[in-house]
Amino acid sequence: MKIIKYPTDFMKTRKEIKGKVGFVPTMGALHQGHLSLIKQAREENDVVVVSIFVNPTQFLPGEDFEKYPRKYEADRAVCERVGVDYLFMPDVKDIYFDDEARVTAPKIKGYILEGLNRPGHFDGVLTVVNKLLNIVKPDIAYFGKKDAQQLYLVKKMVRDFFLDTEIKECDIVREPDGLAMSSRNVYLSEEERKKALLLSKSLKRAGKLIMAGEKKCDVLKKAMEEILKPIEVEYIEIVSRDFEKIDEIQKENSIILVAAKVGNTRLIDNLWV
Ligand code: PAF
Repeated sequence: MKIIKYPTDFMKTRKEIKGKVGFVPTMGALHQGHLSLIKQAREENDVVVVSIFVNPTQFLPGEDFEKYPRKYEADRAVCERVGVDYLFMPDVKDIYFDDEARVTAPKIKGYILEGLNRPGHFDGVLTVVNKLLNIVKPDIAYFGKKDAQQLYLVKKMVRDFFLDTEIKECDIVREPDGLAMSSRNVYLSEEERKKALLLSKSLKRAGKLIMAGEKKCDVLKKAMEEILKPIEVEYIEIVSRDFEKIDEIQKENSIILVAAKVGNTRLIDNLWV
C-alpha cells in the first residue's frame, strides 16, 4: 500500500494508474461500515483508493472537530490488511487555500433536515468531496446510506458539475444489536449506548408497521416518537429518495430519517423502504 500526503503527488501518480479505480472517502476512525465500503470497492475495481481527512469545513463552530476520533496508525494498518492500494492522507493546509472557490449546497435540499440543524455542513461536505473527486478521479466512489442526505447531495453535485464518477449507494452496517456503525459511537457511555439503540428500534417499528400495510407517514412518525420519548429528538422525517417530503410511503422510493441527541452525542439513522 502506498501512502500519499500531497494532492499534487497523488495527481501525478494517478496519471500512471491503469484500470478501474474505486474510491472510499473517509474521515478515518475506520469501523465495519467503512470496511464494507472498501470491500465492495476491492471487489469491483482494479485499484482501491481510500482517503482519510477530517474535514474542518463540515464542522460547525462548537461541534466536535477538535475531538473527532483520529486513529491514523490503526487506520493505516486496517487499510493495509484489507488490500487498499493507495491511502491518501492530506493535511488541511494542502487541501484548503486563502480566499478560495467553494461549493455551496443546493439552497433547499442542502438546508433541510441535517442542513437545517447544521447550516453550512453540506457546503463543507460538497466542497471537500469535490476536491477529493478531482484529485483522485475515481471511476466509482462509495458512500454509505447512513448519511442519506449527504449521499443524495453528493450524487446531485456529481450531476450538476458533470463530474465523471459513478456514486455507489452502500447499505448501512449495524452492530449485532442494531446500532448503526458510526465513528461517533465511541463517545457513548454504556448507559447512553443503550439509549442510542432507540433510534434503530424506532425505525424497526416503522418498518414493521409498513410491512403490516401502514402507509401514512403521520402514523409512522407518531409510533417512532413514542419509542424515542426518552431521548432528545431533533427530527423524524419521511422523504422520497429525492428528499421531497411525502405524506404516504412510496414503495422503493422512501427514506425514514431520524436524528437525536443522546447525552452530548448527536446520532442519525434511517431506513430505506
Ligand atoms: O461521510 C464522511 O465521512 C464525510 O462526510 C466525507 C464524505 C468523507 C467528507 O468529509
